[in-house]
Amino acid sequence: MWSRKRFDIDYSDLIYGLGAALTVENSRRHELQNELEDWWISDSTGEAVACLSVRSGWDLLLQGLQLPPGSEVAMSALTIPDMVSIVRHHGLVPVPIDLDPRTMAPDSASVDRAIGPRTRVIIIAHLFGGRVDLAPILAARDRVGAILVEDCAQAFTPGFRGHPEADVSCFSFGNIKFATALGGALLRLRDPQLADSLRQIQSTYPVQDSGNYASRLLKYLGLKTLSSRPGFTALIWGCRRLGMDYDRLLNQSVKGFPKDELIWRLRHQPCAPLLALLRHRLQGYSEKRLSEQTHRGQRLIQLLQEYCPEIQVPGVAASPHLHWVVPILAEDPSEAIATLANAGFDATQGHSMTVVDSPATHPEGEPRNTRELFQHLLYLPCYPAMDETALVSLAQALRPISSPSVSQFSRMSSP
Ligand SMILES: Cc1ncc(COP(=O)(O)O)c(C=O)c1O
Repeated sequence: MWSRKRFDIDYSDLIYGLGAALTVENSRRHELQNELEDWWISDSTGEAVACLSVRSGWDLLLQGLQLPPGSEVAMSALTIPDMVSIVRHHGLVPVPIDLDPRTMAPDSASVDRAIGPRTRVIIIAHLFGGRVDLAPILAARDRVGAILVEDCAQAFTPGFRGHPEADVSCFSFGNIKFATALGGALLRLRDPQLADSLRQIQSTYPVQDSGNYASRLLKYLGLKTLSSRPGFTALIWGCRRLGMDYDRLLNQSVKGFPKDELIWRLRHQPCAPLLALLRHRLQGYSEKRLSEQTHRGQRLIQLLQEYCPEIQVPGVAASPHLHWVVPILAEDPSEAIATLANAGFDATQGHSMTVVDSPATHPEGEPRNTRELFQHLLYLPCYPAMDETALVSLAQALRPISSPSVSQFSRMSSP
């Protein structure tokens, strides 16, 4: 069985992290943080702030901005639930921007509807590894005088530090991201004063527990082994014998923080071993690693075109596109998951994300395309370890699967 995802980290990196957990004292935190931040912006402008996660950085930014309660935050309609919860926690109003399913970029009519005089912040996510053209959003930002935040959590590329005109660009190195350090994030901010105020707030936080971080490294040593083809096959076999739902087990093993603890958990400074591993990963990360993933993604999409041309691939027209994940739309995702499992492929639904609800003040703002897309979203396994034979079998296994009719979406076409 091919598992849904492989973690983008080698055993040697996990061992490096464990070594750092044993030897790097938190007294070196400042030094490591400064070095990492300076390196991140060495070929770029602005200031960098290293955080525990993108969610921690987003919460920090909303504290630093001190917006009046009731201010609106226009957001890409598809994001992770915590990003929306954080906005609400600050007494602000999330307003969805509907997305064009072909590019996953904001739909221009929806941009005009969502962004108005009450908008103080706009946050646009580059989804699935594709990059959104920010030019129309920059124009909307300048029209209303808001702050533009670029959420690059799914779009890390070595050397890319975000759009030079975005006010804030956030990169995540969480568990399932490219170049993961099993946590950590880097924010680039254009305004040095804002960066200083974020650093000031963050310095009042407790430091993440290094022992917990070491346990996470050990857990992922095990999960990495289980995500190999023989390891995953054995896991599924074991779960079936014990009558356990392996999908639920896997989702639980990588799930985020409990809802009532979210803000408290986010408000920690990254520990020294995390900063050491993040620096090690970023400074040693090769373009080759990413280009292998991109080629696999491109090849799978070509094969889908050949074997099952009606299958819809959301975001396929985004450029550049790294194919961090390869999503498709299936009329009945559960049935598609079962069909693929029989063929030896572990696909999964997009439960880790959510569609931002439109507030009562924007009755016309329902993100219809995104909601429709979300109901049919399915992620295929696709990573460098899958050879041509595996990708062909995957595309062939999808032949009986039907995709929702394109007429349900305003702008969608086949790959
Ligand atoms: C679009 C998007 N935004 C934000 C995040 C949060 O990143 P982090 O885990 O670093 O908080 C994620 C994580 O998956 C994401 O996919």
